[in-house]
Amino acid sequence: MTRISNIAERYRARFKGTPRVYRAPGRVNLIGEHTDYNDGFAMPAAIEFYCWVAVGSRDDRKLSIYSEEFSAGAEADVSSTAISPTKSWSDYPIGVALELEKAGFRLRGANLFIESEVPMGAGLSSSAAIEVATALALAESSGGRPDRLQLARLCQKAENEFVGARVGIMDQFVSLHGQKDHALLLDCRSLNFKSLAIPDSVKLVISNTMVKHELASSEYNRRRADCEEAVRRLATVLPGIRALRDVSLEQLERHRGLLTEVIYKRALHIVTENARVLDSAEALEAGDIERFGKRMAESHRSLRDLYEVSCRELDLMVDLAYQQKGVFGARMTGGGFGGATINLVDARRAGEFKEKLGKAYQRETGLVPQIYICRPAEGAGPVATSDL
Ligand code: GLA
Repeated sequence: MTRISNIAERYRARFKGTPRVYRAPGRVNLIGEHTDYNDGFAMPAAIEFYCWVAVGSRDDRKLSIYSEEFSAGAEADVSSTAISPTKSWSDYPIGVALELEKAGFRLRGANLFIESEVPMGAGLSSSAAIEVATALALAESSGGRPDRLQLARLCQKAENEFVGARVGIMDQFVSLHGQKDHALLLDCRSLNFKSLAIPDSVKLVISNTMVKHELASSEYNRRRADCEEAVRRLATVLPGIRALRDVSLEQLERHRGLLTEVIYKRALHIVTENARVLDSAEALEAGDIERFGKRMAESHRSLRDLYEVSCRELDLMVDLAYQQKGVFGARMTGGGFGGATINLVDARRAGEFKEKLGKAYQRETGLVPQIYICRPAEGAGPVATSDL
């Protein structure tokens, strides 16, 4: 049985009727970390790990949601204004439903069967994948014709306001706009993007350290607050600035005295990371993967030493990657504090890279890492019913 019909089967067993099925991918970010909420640049690609949502309508205005992963169900009445988060997985789909309502989509009641293959806590955007797949399922099954940009914004808002993580828009955006074999050079202020082909000769190797950091979301929000503080202080002498995106390296150095050491380090990461993304995009367009790799190495060091969102296992995974043959660049990817690294690897060496890196990491830590050899995938959408 294919994965899709399997999901439809299990939907039928729980809710009866034939569902429509939607899927949304996770993502890996090649470079440009923590820049999105600073109105900066990032370079994510969607990956072939999906969250699947099977949906069928109901006659009332209730949502009945079930996830086999959590062996748990949840219910919510979309017409109620008194729904509070429960700090569990169901906050994601329910938060999205509430945002859709607020945005004027009048939702019908629905049964939702959710299944995700995006590794959780690995920095590969399992949250955005569940938000986006739910948003598409609910909007379309209520007769809405959602605009993808609006959906991305609305999913981000659900995560900011209902879930309570002040994330930027990169993950939701690329889950909806991803393109097969391409990364997106995303301008997180204008939300314009350019598709950049990833040559066939290169594989994206994602290496999960298997470490999840408890403090990830509170530390994430703190980093964001540090960046906002930097802007507040710098704006006293640079009145035109709205975000760290608007600050040059020269301006930052000139006004360093206005910042504490910690806030200066945070800002220095953002300012230099934006420049690295633009340079990496140029390198990719010129076919210069070696240069791209150098920017990745710098990005990792900056995230480790200035932004301080790496951890021992991520640093080790990166160091070990550079000891292997065929690697162009390696760095942590996503929010950090655990999770995965992204490696750009010569396609001919990818199998050997995976095996040797996995063994070396296991030897040093006793942990068995999950390593995936990927290529960029297409963004979210409905799954053809002929496949059911
Ligand atoms: C998480 C957030 C994104 C982004 C990254 C760091 O994945 O969801 O918005 O800020 O961290 O680049």
